[in-house]
Amino acid sequence: MDSKITEREQWTSRLGFILAAAGSAVGLGNLWGFAYRSSQGGGAAFVLLYLLIVLIVCLPVFVAEMALGRNTMTSTLLAPVKLAGKNWYPLGILFFIAPLGIASYYSVIMGWTADTLFHSLFIGLPKNLTEAETFFGSISTGKSVLLGHLLSLVLTALIVSSGIKKGIEKVTRFFMPILFIIIVVLAIWASTLSGAWEGYKTFLFKFDFAELTNPQTIRNAFTQAFFSLSLGIGIMVTYASYLNRKSNLPKLSIGVASLDTLVGLLAGFITFPIVLTFGLSDAISESTVGALFISIPTALGSYGAVGRIVAVAFFALAYIAAITSSVSLLEVPVSSLMDKFGFKRKNSVWLITVFLFLAGIPSALNLNIFATVDSIFGGVLLIFGGFLVSFFMGWVVPSKFNDELNASKVGIKTTRYLKFMTRWVAPPIIAFGLLISLFDLLKSWVS
Ligand code: PHE
Repeated sequence: MDSKITEREQWTSRLGFILAAAGSAVGLGNLWGFAYRSSQGGGAAFVLLYLLIVLIVCLPVFVAEMALGRNTMTSTLLAPVKLAGKNWYPLGILFFIAPLGIASYYSVIMGWTADTLFHSLFIGLPKNLTEAETFFGSISTGKSVLLGHLLSLVLTALIVSSGIKKGIEKVTRFFMPILFIIIVVLAIWASTLSGAWEGYKTFLFKFDFAELTNPQTIRNAFTQAFFSLSLGIGIMVTYASYLNRKSNLPKLSIGVASLDTLVGLLAGFITFPIVLTFGLSDAISESTVGALFISIPTALGSYGAVGRIVAVAFFALAYIAAITSSVSLLEVPVSSLMDKFGFKRKNSVWLITVFLFLAGIPSALNLNIFATVDSIFGGVLLIFGGFLVSFFMGWVVPSKFNDELNASKVGIKTTRYLKFMTRWVAPPIIAFGLLISLFDLLKSWVS
């Protein structure tokens, strides 16, 4: 199981890492997942659970993933074996397969996003809900969906094939600031809508205690936390393997997690006011997948020129957010093949891209398959991966975890706190979340 690395690229600076990692984290999950999951009955209880999971569970997992990457300086397929021997190869394989699973359908949603963007730009917005539904129907079937899927994969591949510094870092450095500007401007605009206050209330203050124990809300909160932070599937392991030895891992992870959470909340401050101003909240919570693509254009359709500009800005924002996430999904398997078999970056990229195109076809053509693949790869597998990585760093190779915390020079208190959380707090809580999520998922399949 020799790794055949010759020389390993590095981010040009810590900011480069933060923007790339935040680019991975901030994605369609923030703009689309956050809105529909919180309106699926969870309301403010969902938001509260989500924030608690991020703080208590995801931050230690984040640091554990980064420690694994930086300590081994190798890709996710080989990292666990390098630290703990051959028995841990399955963890590497899980980290190889999980991002492939998500990437295969993520590009499908990117295709819908691009279609909606072009439609808003060149043709116009739908006049009513029925027209919007017909439009979504047309972009989510047949040739049009396959073309969107293919083009989004090719765009992602072109960036990843240019490498870490010249590809991923360059693109995220350019796009992330633009993304933040668009999202803040849109949130300010949304605050002027007549339904703004109603939207905030629904999103943040409609608190129902019973929701805290509702398995669906718990599953939604765990899924959203892991999916949105890109945790549990080796992304942060890979990105941290391009960091230098001196970077402060806990500080970096707090930076990335804060940016991601901020964008998730800001996105809620955009979608909820828009949707509630037009009484379209059912369109969001009922249709999980198409929510954003139906309700947002419908609502904005009645705003004339301003509505159209906002729609273009919103879907451009979504596409930017998505592409900086999809590059991270591709980088994980690509770097694994490079390290394991000595493949050239370009060959590895195109091989996997062809695979992803084929693997994504069933999800592209059938929304039920799409939802199933999403609930497995974008849900329970991430939570399971999060459990394994905290268990691995906390219990299997604690001394390596310690080394990385020492190298980060975070002080004795933070070190103790993180070790404690990674060993005693994160694994049992994630195991609990995983069980509830599995149970809820199986129940949804049976019913
Ligand atoms: N975090 C991204 C989002 O919110 C999606 C993603 C999940 C990317 C897992 C990489 C890994 O859309």
